[in-house]
Amino acid sequence: MSIHNEAKQEDVAEKVLLAGDPLRAQYIAKNYLKNAVCYNRVRNMLGYTGTYDGKKISVQGTGMGMPSMSIYAYELINFYKANSLIRIGTCGSFQADVKVKNIILAMGASTDSAMNRPIFQGADFSNIADYYLLRKAEEYCRKKGLPHAIGNVLTSDHFYTEENPVEYYKKWIEYGIKAVEMETAALYSLGARYEVDTLSILTVSDNLVTGEHASPEDRETAFDNMMNLALETI
Ligand code: HPA
Repeated sequence: MSIHNEAKQEDVAEKVLLAGDPLRAQYIAKNYLKNAVCYNRVRNMLGYTGTYDGKKISVQGTGMGMPSMSIYAYELINFYKANSLIRIGTCGSFQADVKVKNIILAMGASTDSAMNRPIFQGADFSNIADYYLLRKAEEYCRKKGLPHAIGNVLTSDHFYTEENPVEYYKKWIEYGIKAVEMETAALYSLGARYEVDTLSILTVSDNLVTGEHASPEDRETAFDNMMNLALETI
């Protein structure tokens, strides 16, 4: 048991999928895992453990943004011995050729957040994915012919920006950042600090440059592709 998780130690798997929306975690547990049991209801931040292909897997809701996600990931790593964590989420693409429904494997995560700055006394730490998880995910995408991009994402503290996002994020876009989301940089720094494997697998829900949005049907197919990819990778 930890402050935000009422599970017993043995109720949580070493391999955990992280979903921002707790109802999404519930949906995954019911539709993609066998014999899934709910282990956490504290703050309605649902967590489930079941099996996939005979292996024990957990799926945990985390809420949105780095502080919320970090609380759940920290406790899973430090109180439950999770050693492999894959975030599954959505992002807004910054590049015209990274289209809606495409998958982004976040090799690195830059950030406009100050979360790491006190730790590194104002200097920059590179938040990077576990290479072997990344490689496995890439191999799966290739094998299945899933359109994907691999690279640097921006983990932002803002969902809404005062200016048009393409203006606001101009420099990041010029430096080749593929997309914006709100959790990956903190997940990768936790991975580095506590020596566990982390990866973010994102689907593009909107393209901020072209204005393209995913339709409900698009979202469903993209979600299913991402889920199969995440489960095969973990
Ligand atoms: N900004 C931040 N996070 C996101 C976005 C966005 O535009 N789209 C999906 N996740």
